[in-house]
Amino acid sequence: MIPKEFLDAKKQNRLDDLFHFLRFPSVSAKSEHKKDILACAEWLAAHLNKIGIKSRIMPTGGHPVVYGEVISSPKKVTILYYGHYDVQPPEPLDLWKTTPFEPLVENGYIIARGATDDKGQLMTHVKAIEAYLATKTDLPVNVKFLIEGEEEAGSENLEKFIKNNAALLKADIVVISDSGQYGKNRPAVTYGLRGLAFVEVKVTGPNRDLHSGSFGGSIANPINVLAKVISLLHDENGKVAIDGFYDDVLPLTDWERRQFAGLPFDENEYLSKTGARGLFGDKDYTVLEQIWGRPTLDVNGITGGYQGEGGKTIIPSWASCKITMRLVADQDPNDICEKIEKYIKKICPDYVYCEVKKHGGARGVVVPTDGPWLEAAGKAIKTGFGVEPVFIKEGGSIPVVGTFKEVLGIDTLLLGWGQSDDNAHSPNERFALADFERGCYSALALIDELSKTKG
Ligand code: BES
Ligand code: MN
Ligand code: MN
Repeated sequence: MIPKEFLDAKKQNRLDDLFHFLRFPSVSAKSEHKKDILACAEWLAAHLNKIGIKSRIMPTGGHPVVYGEVISSPKKVTILYYGHYDVQPPEPLDLWKTTPFEPLVENGYIIARGATDDKGQLMTHVKAIEAYLATKTDLPVNVKFLIEGEEEAGSENLEKFIKNNAALLKADIVVISDSGQYGKNRPAVTYGLRGLAFVEVKVTGPNRDLHSGSFGGSIANPINVLAKVISLLHDENGKVAIDGFYDDVLPLTDWERRQFAGLPFDENEYLSKTGARGLFGDKDYTVLEQIWGRPTLDVNGITGGYQGEGGKTIIPSWASCKITMRLVADQDPNDICEKIEKYIKKICPDYVYCEVKKHGGARGVVVPTDGPWLEAAGKAIKTGFGVEPVFIKEGGSIPVVGTFKEVLGIDTLLLGWGQSDDNAHSPNERFALADFERGCYSALALIDELSKTKG
């Protein structure tokens, strides 16, 4: 049997394995899931071992990574596959059609938390390698797998792990499937991702909640103040108002603007996918330019005061919020954190206490758009999907991509099999069975194509 025939014959087994993987509630953000994360990593390492990829769990400063390899000759091209076995929290649960960790197939979609981000996409590469090993076909490349458990929490411990294990991870090219296609039947090669900077802001007023009748009007309300501070983070045109925020932003080149404009894009369809009423944002840029080429600032959550049943007439003691900023090349996350702290301290009135906790983040990345790796990727996608891929950037972040380049000097191929309406991070996350299948066949073809590449 040749590997492709193995894929043809094992469709159901492949799904069974993916379903097993999806049943672990490996939510990295919450400490109550620590055991589930570990159980998931253990299952994954055991599964890789079972199919012939020599694997083990390796500790980091946080959740462990699963490392696996099949090395047969120093003459072969070495591929480092990266993926993540952790997932986003599934809440709100009442909006799910199913239980998030009990996968279900409906109308051609696998529905479960992690289906597309990233368990389903990662599995396509695992299954492609399995097809070689199970059929005893000579694997024409060396492969390494680095599968982490805290991507959704910012990959905070991964850089150190990579620095400490640089020799182990040495490879010619990194392959990641943790992004999307451009649209239905429009597979893509992604050449840029945005970065991220994360801060938390807390405004404190009185040392306890106060009666708003006895004190109101004389003591400032921290929620009112925080709301005012937040409102000053953007100007009236939607640009970020922090001093120096755009200083290091690499402007979009004419080539890129033309390239983006050449992709089919329907604003109404885009809007209806989200359910939002209208578009918003910096009018100097098109929607694709806004998402792919410009930085942003968003409040992700806000807390304070009384939200229980009925009313409560108080001046709350404090208010806080979480803010993330999507960055583009060449913005530096630490520098951006400094700048927002300085700006908030400047605009926050001195009758309250104001605290800005800086968490750093990851740089935006741009990867090569030509060369033999890209050509190989294009051919593999053509084989798996039957159409040529388009070149796109994405607005999301995969923190480790910059680290692979900076620490190991390795470029990354970003080949995403997902769709923007797969509901990643949302209720009813899903992955089309057809995309899982075409992803597996593309992953299989990629092995062959990359093996012919000298880099
Ligand atoms: N798979 C996504 C990244 C992604 C999203 C790529 C959309 C392309 C398109 C990844 O799992 C993710 O969600 N990353 C986080 C990183 C953050 C927690 C540092 C993100 O982008 O919010
Ligand atoms: Mn992901
Ligand atoms: Mn994600």
